[in-house]
Amino acid sequence: MKKHSITIAGGGSTYTPGILLMLLDNLDRFPIKTIKLYDNDEKRQEKIGKAYEIYVKEHHPEIEFMYSTDPEESFSDIDFVMAQIRVGKYDMREKDEKIPLKYGLVGQETTGPGGIAYGLRSISGVIEILDYMEKYSPDAWMLNYSNPAAIVAEATNRLRPNSKILNICDMPISLMYKMAHMAGFEDWKDLDVMYYGLNHFGWFTDIRDKEGNDLMPLIRKNVGESGFVKGIDGQHYEQSWLETFRKAKDVYELDPNTIPNTYLKYYFYPDYVVEHSDINHTRVDEIRENREKNVFETCDRIIESGTSKGVELKPNAHSSYIVDLAVALSNNTQEQFLLIVPNEGSVPNFDPTAMVEIPCIVGKYGYKKISQQAIPQFQKGLMEQQVSVEKLVVSAWEEGSYNKLWQALTLSRMVPSAKVAKEVLDDLIDANRDYWPELK
Ligand code: NAD
Ligand code: G6P
Ligand code: MN
Repeated sequence: MKKHSITIAGGGSTYTPGILLMLLDNLDRFPIKTIKLYDNDEKRQEKIGKAYEIYVKEHHPEIEFMYSTDPEESFSDIDFVMAQIRVGKYDMREKDEKIPLKYGLVGQETTGPGGIAYGLRSISGVIEILDYMEKYSPDAWMLNYSNPAAIVAEATNRLRPNSKILNICDMPISLMYKMAHMAGFEDWKDLDVMYYGLNHFGWFTDIRDKEGNDLMPLIRKNVGESGFVKGIDGQHYEQSWLETFRKAKDVYELDPNTIPNTYLKYYFYPDYVVEHSDINHTRVDEIRENREKNVFETCDRIIESGTSKGVELKPNAHSSYIVDLAVALSNNTQEQFLLIVPNEGSVPNFDPTAMVEIPCIVGKYGYKKISQQAIPQFQKGLMEQQVSVEKLVVSAWEEGSYNKLWQALTLSRMVPSAKVAKEVLDDLIDANRDYWPELK
């Protein structure tokens, strides 16, 4: 079997250890020659680099491991880039979450005004990584988690239409874990699903076990009673996520024929979300207190003691999904994955130029899309509006257009008027001066 070389871009990410450990857990079907971490922040990456250098040496001394901030070194001779960068890091996430709240608007990482702000920062960062990959390893695949995936996917499709990049999201997979548990199964891979939408804006329409038995009645009953509270995905466990999983019950009620993505709560119940937000303690604070702290404390422990004994792999949806996708591309497994891809008629009564999240069959050739049924008026209306927001953001970035960005914010379901859109926009421009193109 071929030995692969992988670069994790955003090596300083809190998700890097999970992906690394998952790669090492799959060596029997996906042998590895080299793992490289790449980040543009040397200090942020260094701890993870040092700690997991020890880990890899102790567990798999035959694997070459390195971490670097040098693009040529990082992107040469590789087969895959697994990207998870956050341009502006948590300090800017804090602004994405807290500035909108000042105006009584939802303050969220990937949706509404915060997601738009993050999108304008991410585009150049993701394109930069893609260009490095194509320069130094033109045959490689980039598997991209960097958010906000809807805007990033629109941008990569528009700016680099022929590049080998797959934009992905772990949320539906997390929900599949939970739904599998509701039905008495272990893994998201025990389910076969149909799903359509935009990223963080979609619906499951069919859910079955591997024998073809229809699980929709059981899942609908569960979600109708308590949202996605049941089941564990090993990843989203803190208070705010539990609240989001519970709220899915109210999101579900709007269309009991489908099972919704949790992110729809921000679009359907923005007033509720704002009422239940604390501008002094948003999701980023919770992460600093938990995930970020845990990841870096574990690194400190490994570095100080010089050994990784006691560090264990805890699989979660995020790492299992991206590694399985790489395996599918490499080993031609023909498994089904939800990918964010150009619509081009796959959702027949929807904008063919939109980037949609739908099931695809993945193999050595890349992916083949699975066509969907015509979608109902409710979802179509919502998706037309939301995809227009996302397209306007990318146009604003390309053209440096203030007005297009103002239009995008005005069109967002989470912003009540053009007046409020302008107020929050001007504040976001101030906060993002180091990252956004100049807007005229
Ligand atoms: P994080 O801030 O801990 O890590 C991001 C890293 O990216 C940092 O080390 C930072 O220095 C680095 N970085 C920023 N700009 C860069 C650039 N231009 N080049 C190289 N490195 C750069 O963030 P996190 O919470 O671990 O999340 C990482 C990313 O993964 C985010 O974009 C997040 O939204 C995304 N994510 C996506 C999904 C999904 O479903 N698509 C799921 C989870 C996380
Ligand atoms: C889900 C989404 C991701 C998002 C993450 C945020 O997994 O699919 O797109 O980045 O949640 O989680 P966090 O724990 O960083 O708030
Ligand atoms: Mn996601």
